[in-house]
Amino acid sequence: MINKLISQILPHMPEKLIWQFSKEYIAGKTTEQAFEASRELNRNNTLVTLDILGEFIENMDQAKDNRDQYIDLINTMEATDVKGNYSIKPTMFGLLLDKQTCSDYMRDIVATAAEYDNFVRIDMENSPTVDDTIEIFRRIKAEFPKNVGLVLQAYLKRTRSDIEAMLDLKSDEADLNFRLCKGIYVESPAIAYKKYEEINAHYLEDLEFMFQSGIYPGIATHDKPLIEGALKLIQKYNIPKDRYEFQMLYGVTPKQRQSLADAGHKVRVYVPFGEHWFGYSTRRLKENPAMVTHIVKALFAK
Ligand code: FDA
Repeated sequence: MINKLISQILPHMPEKLIWQFSKEYIAGKTTEQAFEASRELNRNNTLVTLDILGEFIENMDQAKDNRDQYIDLINTMEATDVKGNYSIKPTMFGLLLDKQTCSDYMRDIVATAAEYDNFVRIDMENSPTVDDTIEIFRRIKAEFPKNVGLVLQAYLKRTRSDIEAMLDLKSDEADLNFRLCKGIYVESPAIAYKKYEEINAHYLEDLEFMFQSGIYPGIATHDKPLIEGALKLIQKYNIPKDRYEFQMLYGVTPKQRQSLADAGHKVRVYVPFGEHWFGYSTRRLKENPAMVTHIVKALFAK
């Protein structure tokens, strides 16, 4: 009900108003602002993964521009003291328009990060993109085994078999590094678990399978029961602290994140920034209607 209402209201809300609430979840519009936010996180014993906002582009000029922006970001960041890696979204490089060029552009970004011995995570978008994203991941991983990872979504019924099918990519020299999240897109019940309990149960099953298989997981959640479940698995399998990390979104549950970091767990924050903040913000707003209260507050704030 509230979701429907929000979808109806969103297109009519002024961008300025949406920015008021978005700025809590977005590190800024410029690279320098993203670095500043990252340094602050680094000071609190937290790593970052930087994400330039933008997705589902309309032409391949935008794709090339996005590739160039990421390459600039990497070259600039590697010359600073910021500690972190990079996250990319395939549709930002034209996955739905020209798969081969998209794959080449994503490869160029990973190649740039590899020059600095760094790492790029390929985000997972909505279900029609999953097969192509895995295909591109496989291609890039074959060339840069240590420098690329993927995201998997626990709400998709296919995820466990996707993990199993990718075990052939694991080798002694290079980890399989998967971020596990619940999944943020609206998917049909035919292919996705919809209930909170079901998604959480599969999340922990997938995570357990990753630990059993020697995969390095990025445990991406703010959900307390899942974090507790993950900590139990870490204990059960006696997983060393350098064989997993927790990941959270910028601006979300900072206290929870800090208590994990203070307890000595590796923690990484996803730091989105850039001019194209609008799509990211509205998607999060639809996902988490509780955030509407922020907007209402912003309405009355000076
Ligand atoms: P849940 O949604 O149950 O939230 C638990 C609690 O966390 C909430 O009660 C609330 O307190 C807080 N919370 C969660 N989200 C919040 C928000 N946006 N604002 C304020 N509070 C919030 N998805 C995807 O499909 N592809 C991807 O590549 C990624 N990448 C990714 C990276 C990282 C580092 C994270 C943490 C998440 C993603 N996601 C993602 C998003 C993910 O799929 C999921 O939608 C969100 O993380 C919310 O799910 P939780 O596991 O936090 O649980």
